[in-house]
Amino acid sequence: MARKFLVGGNWKMNGSKQLVDTLVKALNEGKWSPNVECVIAPPAPYLAAVRAAVRKEVGVAAQNCWTEGKGAFTGEISTEMLKDLNIDWVILGHSERRSIYKESDELVGKKVAAAVKADLKVIACCGESEGERDAGKTTEVVFRQIKAIADQLSAADWANIVIAYEPVWAIGTGKVATPQQAQEAHKEIRGWLAKNVSKDVADATRILYGGSVSAKSAPDLQKEEDIDGFLVGGASLKDKEFLEILNCRQ
Ligand code: G3H
Repeated sequence: MARKFLVGGNWKMNGSKQLVDTLVKALNEGKWSPNVECVIAPPAPYLAAVRAAVRKEVGVAAQNCWTEGKGAFTGEISTEMLKDLNIDWVILGHSERRSIYKESDELVGKKVAAAVKADLKVIACCGESEGERDAGKTTEVVFRQIKAIADQLSAADWANIVIAYEPVWAIGTGKVATPQQAQEAHKEIRGWLAKNVSKDVADATRILYGGSVSAKSAPDLQKEEDIDGFLVGGASLKDKEFLEILNCRQ
């Protein structure tokens, strides 16, 4: 089954009105293949402005949301608010949310379910730490994280889920996974989906790689059979490089 290649740009807690203008201008003027879907995730204060300014075929994602539509949850962002701003996507379960803000597998699963219920598309992240990889626990960790999400979803919900495999040791370190390492993990994840959800869901679900993706590493990574796109951090803040990554696939 053909899975549309997706390149996401996770700006994390970076940017300013000036940088937003620069990045949006580059995307509005830039060209890439219609076979490549682009989704950008600005920080929450810029979501509405980015949605209004960027061309409509570019998806806009929040970097987090809460499990409820509204209520007494000071500091949180509701799924209803995102829909109200015409935001289509949300990134959930990023390793920075898991490690810095102590988001458990269970909470990530609940957030994913709430987002899908609210009609948002989700980039659901998973990935092992360096110690876990060294201990031979990569699949154990990643399967546990994905199971906590899958436990909250129906088979139909998977149409709105994209998985991002982001090994923690590769995030922001410049130490990108080799195409073989990434392919191996993606194949394992697809195998888990086939076994535990369904073959159709496994065939249709896009699995992105994230972790120090750059214009240099993207061309080789994208050749791997089970790599259906990227979730780019640092390089998504560089207008020219992000366009080069979008163009690594035709
Ligand atoms: O969400 C993006 C990932 O954390 C990757 O970040 O490309 O800066 O390593 P990075």
